[in-house]
Amino acid sequence: MSKYCVQRLNKIEGYTPGEQPKETHVIKLNTNENPFPPPIEVLQALKEITSEQLRKYPDPLALELRQKIAHTYDIPDERWILVGNGMDEILSILIRTFVDYHETISATYPTYSLYEVLADLQGCKFQYHDLNEDFNIVPPFTWNSSKLLLITHPNAPSGVPTPPEIMKEICSNQEQIIFIDEAYVDFCDFSYISWAKEYPNVIIGRTFSKSFSLAGVRLGFAVGNPELISDMFKVKDSYNVNVLTQKIGIKALENYNQISNHIETIKATRRFLQKELQKLGFIVPNSQSNFLLAIWNGNPSAQEIYLKLKEKNIFVRYFPMRRLENTLRITIGTKEQCSILLENLVKIIR
Ligand SMILES: Cc1ncc(COP(=O)(O)O)c(C=O)c1O
Repeated sequence: MSKYCVQRLNKIEGYTPGEQPKETHVIKLNTNENPFPPPIEVLQALKEITSEQLRKYPDPLALELRQKIAHTYDIPDERWILVGNGMDEILSILIRTFVDYHETISATYPTYSLYEVLADLQGCKFQYHDLNEDFNIVPPFTWNSSKLLLITHPNAPSGVPTPPEIMKEICSNQEQIIFIDEAYVDFCDFSYISWAKEYPNVIIGRTFSKSFSLAGVRLGFAVGNPELISDMFKVKDSYNVNVLTQKIGIKALENYNQISNHIETIKATRRFLQKELQKLGFIVPNSQSNFLLAIWNGNPSAQEIYLKLKEKNIFVRYFPMRRLENTLRITIGTKEQCSILLENLVKIIR
């Protein structure tokens, strides 16, 4: 750390993203990307970009994209929508808008580890509420002193959804901002997006990185009461979503039918992979995401399996974190990729 850097950063390690190997002949099941391409119309839209559009700044309000999102998800109008450079930016804006230095953010555990990093960067306190053994949220809820509650539905890294009766109990009794991170919800049977209209303190987060096959584009959005969204607008950079991303987002939403075909294929492969992993002795919670958490209590250890797979150019995710030491998080790839993974797993563990 340089002598110029603010003291607070001294203790912060920063977020470690999943590896993005340079080699092309790898099986990449480590960052929950979608194995299928985005709709062809998206590439077409990119080709139609004019030099004039590139010369000028993008629409700072991203009006057309926000209107399209509102229309697609049955939200009253664009005042309910904020778009960001990925949901990661939405999370950063959320924390900077609603939580002051030394105030507390709560989240369930385990969860998306970026939350805690963002809280540290903002100088906030962070409080975890442990999920039970089955990765469900169970009372008692002791979040009253926190300014922001983060719930990932379905949970990452387990893929387990939060059932409506629990979510209802939380949303009806908690008064702070409740952010429901629905990064993976398109692979789940139910969403809470309409709850943003029912509860004035509920904000929903979505991303185009997973179901839409657009992780490289960096587009996410928040849906919430217009009063909350206008607070968040004050914090965002003026031109936070570039002109290409705005166009691509609109085209992707116009072609949602192609995306939903891919989602169904991924769900079928998820069922296949879960069964096969269970046959090998892994414990695999029922995931409603595009990944599985494979719990392994045998020999070699989960970390050794991860390293041996990597030697074979098969990338899965290993988190050296409490409760996750004996797990591998595996993105659902194509059926062929999953079969190659299984063949290699058999050799490693038998
Ligand atoms: C739970 C969760 N929320 C948010 C994000 C961020 O998504 P984005 O790619 O839109 O920044 C991720 C990315 O992996 C995630 O796993």
